Amino acid sequence: MIENPYYPIDSVVEDIITETPTIKTFVLKPSRPIKFKAGQFMQLTVPGVGEAPFTPSSSPNVEDKMEITILRTGKVTEALHELEPGAKVGLRGPYGKGYPVDKMKGKEVLIVGGGVGLAPLRSLIYCLIEDASKYKRISIKYGAKNPEELCFKRQYDEWTRAAGNVDFTNTIDVPAPGWNGRVGLVTTLLDDLDIDISDSIAVSCGPQIMLKFVTLKLLDCGYEPPQIYLSMNRKMSCGMGKCGRCNVGPYYLCVDGPDMCYDKIKDIPNVFG
Ligand SMILES: Cc1cc2nc3c(=O)[nH]c(=O)nc-3n(C[C@H](O)[C@H](O)[C@H](O)COP(=O)(O)OP(=O)(O)OC[C@H]3O[C@@H](n4cnc5c(N)ncnc54)[C@H](O)[C@@H]3O)c2cc1C
Ligand code: FES
Repeated sequence: MIENPYYPIDSVVEDIITETPTIKTFVLKPSRPIKFKAGQFMQLTVPGVGEAPFTPSSSPNVEDKMEITILRTGKVTEALHELEPGAKVGLRGPYGKGYPVDKMKGKEVLIVGGGVGLAPLRSLIYCLIEDASKYKRISIKYGAKNPEELCFKRQYDEWTRAAGNVDFTNTIDVPAPGWNGRVGLVTTLLDDLDIDISDSIAVSCGPQIMLKFVTLKLLDCGYEPPQIYLSMNRKMSCGMGKCGRCNVGPYYLCVDGPDMCYDKIKDIPNVFG
């Protein structure tokens, strides 16, 4: 019998971690293991409400559980944020190509995240850190609106302690009481890059407007378009290249992306929406 590709895998919400006032991580136990690559995405169904695309934030080396970190923004995500442990949801996928991890081997990897954009990148961070000796350096730059909205706070030290070639710097948009760290948009963290750019790959995930300015800044720093990968997390439906909902120029982001090399999309008019 041919399996219906739209039929989700039954999954149970095992735990819910509150990351920020607007972001929660859902620890899901699917009824069968799900193998995925960092950067591939899933369609998550809340029964009776609907489904939406999310990239796992957990390690691709763990197949029996999956973590997905979700910003509350509309119908499906509001319903997800109301769930309690034990709730049943559905997962279908994985879809998309995933991050170009093979191209990162031996290189200085620059990871630039904004807001909940650090969630899909966390899967890549785990993937790289778990094999850290294969990369020259893993440099993580992260920005959020304010200290309360910094996602995965408890893990920053854990990541830098995991291997000698990992560094992490963060910033908040505007000054806040009690905050002694850096202030300014995430692009300001690229002002003092001490990376060998000719031997680097940069990956960025965050709001479209942030991706635009991060890209301009990276080009200004000396990165070439083939060295830049952007998570184009636009609206999606089927996830399988059938409905045409997610096209950008000649590409279907659900199949050809969602992480796209800037070299491929740079000439598409209005590519940042
Ligand atoms: C490949 C992919 C991976 C994603 N990974 C994550 C993730 O790891 N964590 C996470 O929190 N979110 C992620 N998103 C975004 C997430 O899919 C949307 O926030 C979600 O679909 C909103 O559904 P909703 O029913 O709650 O909101 P809706 O009621 O559909 O919309 C509420 C608001 O959100 C906007 N919106 C809806 N979808 C998107 C979208 N794809 N991008 C930007 N704005 C949108 C709408 O325009 C509207 O303003 C990802 C999206 C894609 C395409
Ligand atoms: S989501 Fe249907 S074609 Fe991409």
